Amino acid sequence: MSDARERAESLFARHFQADPTGVFSAPGRVNLIGEHTDYNDGFVLPLAISQRTVVAASIRDDGAVVAVSEGHGDAVTYDIASLDSADLTGWAAYVVGVVWALAQHRREGSTALGVSLAICSDVPTGAGLSSSAAVECAVAVAVNDLWGLGLEPRALAGLGQQVENEVVGAHTGGMDQMVSMLSLADHALFLDCRTDDIEHIPCSWSAAGLALVVMDTGVRHANASSAYGDRRKSCEEAAAVVGVPALRDASLTQLRDYQGALGEENYARARHIVTENARVLDTVDALRASDFETVGALFSQSHLSMRDDYDISCPELDLAVESAQGAGALGARMTGGGFGGCAIALISAELLSHLEGELHHHFSSRGWQVPRVGVVRASAGARVEQAL
Ligand code: GLA
Repeated sequence: MSDARERAESLFARHFQADPTGVFSAPGRVNLIGEHTDYNDGFVLPLAISQRTVVAASIRDDGAVVAVSEGHGDAVTYDIASLDSADLTGWAAYVVGVVWALAQHRREGSTALGVSLAICSDVPTGAGLSSSAAVECAVAVAVNDLWGLGLEPRALAGLGQQVENEVVGAHTGGMDQMVSMLSLADHALFLDCRTDDIEHIPCSWSAAGLALVVMDTGVRHANASSAYGDRRKSCEEAAAVVGVPALRDASLTQLRDYQGALGEENYARARHIVTENARVLDTVDALRASDFETVGALFSQSHLSMRDDYDISCPELDLAVESAQGAGALGARMTGGGFGGCAIALISAELLSHLEGELHHHFSSRGWQVPRVGVVRASAGARVEQAL
């Protein structure tokens, strides 16, 4: 199949009977480490992947948004000025939600500004690779550019998160949109989710003969969003019990002091957040020192913390992690929100086919779908592919 850019341009031409004025894209992500820390004002270390969502777009002068998305049936049309964002459902909530949010930034009297959008994506959906942030960010970059709004990448990331929270109704943190907007090729994004300070950390493992692999278990859990909400609630309750603004501010000693008041479950949830924040900082230090043994060990500790304390893994993710470790990986962990999706591993490039063999052996002997394996290349964030 041709790449998403070619498909988006030809979808636009087919649907709108014209060439697009501009082509824009934004990537999905994997998170190296720092899981569920973003909504606790903590630290994360994701990187943008090479799979992208591409938007071919043109300005309109009838105040409408007309959007067509590959694999989603008919196009949708809305008059932007009279649009009620509460009416948006399904894929249109992500796309039209962003247009609606950006319309609040149009100059006064410019309600005739509209936009035609054709969207294609190479980011797998439901795999925990942030396909939704990729759509939001690609549309945000397109409309910001075509309407000449001049909003900065951080503002666009914030707007994408607002759409995810308020229009789509998923109460996620801000990591996914920040990494999709702000990443540099060959770097991970070290982000402080309290201050939004960022630092680009070079991904130097390939020079050491290592590969970062992503293993997609194919498991998609329908109840993931309610479980995500439960984890958020536990964190807020725990922060209130300890008396800190967010779990970012809590120490393990404080958690132990309040262990009884926290109760067993919230104590374990909070312990994951506190130890995970420390692991992000340690991973950044280890990457800077090219100490990949330590990076791998931190990955594996993070996985245990998510499996046992935060309770967001599943048997398939655990088996992918154990198979990678058994194949000689320096470390492995599930990545993303959890309850399915992908795990990552840092492993010698020479052991890749051995890893595939191990996964095949362990998964097929249980009658489970064998995970698809890909090597991750850290890519650049959202960008204008072509502007006329
Ligand atoms: C999802 C959310 C993010 C983050 C991760 C877990 O991807 O969208 O904000 O909370 O889960 O780290």
